[in-house]
Amino acid sequence: MDREVNLLDSHPKITRDYDLRAKEKTPEIIRIAKQFDRDFFDGDRKCGYGGYRYDGRWKSIVKRMKEYYKLSEHADILDIGCAKGFMLYDFKALMPDSRVAGIDISSYAIEHAMPEVKPFLKVASAEELPFPDKSFDLVISINSIHNLPLERLKRALREIQRVSRRHSYITVDAWRNDREKENLMKWVLTAETMMCVEDWKRLFAEEGYSGDYWWFIAE
Ligand SMILES: C[S@@+](CC[C@H](N)C(=O)[O-])C[C@H]1O[C@@H](n2cnc3c(N)ncnc32)[C@H](O)[C@@H]1O
Repeated sequence: MDREVNLLDSHPKITRDYDLRAKEKTPEIIRIAKQFDRDFFDGDRKCGYGGYRYDGRWKSIVKRMKEYYKLSEHADILDIGCAKGFMLYDFKALMPDSRVAGIDISSYAIEHAMPEVKPFLKVASAEELPFPDKSFDLVISINSIHNLPLERLKRALREIQRVSRRHSYITVDAWRNDREKENLMKWVLTAETMMCVEDWKRLFAEEGYSGDYWWFIAE
């Protein structure tokens, strides 16, 4: 099975104005965004999402993941960097007998999580997962672990490997050419570790990460 796989292709395509972001970005905006507090999720677009609201976009993606990984109705699923639990909400809707869990560094996001999944979410960091070895059939982390600096990100990769008993799927900030690198550098607010896809693949191998992966690319 190819480990480089886009399971997010049904995500709505967003048009990003990279030059405007680069012009608006200041050290203060970056400092605020990196706190992953209200301003990042529900503040001004300059500082992050500009309103992080449930819109059902994960529905088709969780269906795809269930099929791709042939998950049983009772699967154990972890989302690292789960924010307000939108993806886990859609997993639970699709597979009511699954056991879902989520962690996020942001107490704001967990506090404002969807009530249906809030009891399954915890404030924690990806580099120290509060779960025993081999706890989950599928461990997912979408656009989250690149927010750690390299050494801590390596620990997060090893943690994902440790708590997964079967599958894992992560996406990280990456580029395939100079234009994508330039766009990403203009766009990025919070990421600490970004590299070209070949370097990511080398890092995954070095750290013994054997799961699947895809990229956030600033096209
Ligand atoms: C770009 S958002 C992605 C949220 C969600 N996965 C999604 O795709 O909609 C990045 C998320 O990573 C979380 N995060 C940042 N550093 C983290 C860490 N060290 N451990 C766990 N979560 C972290 C942030 O709070 C935020 O919710």
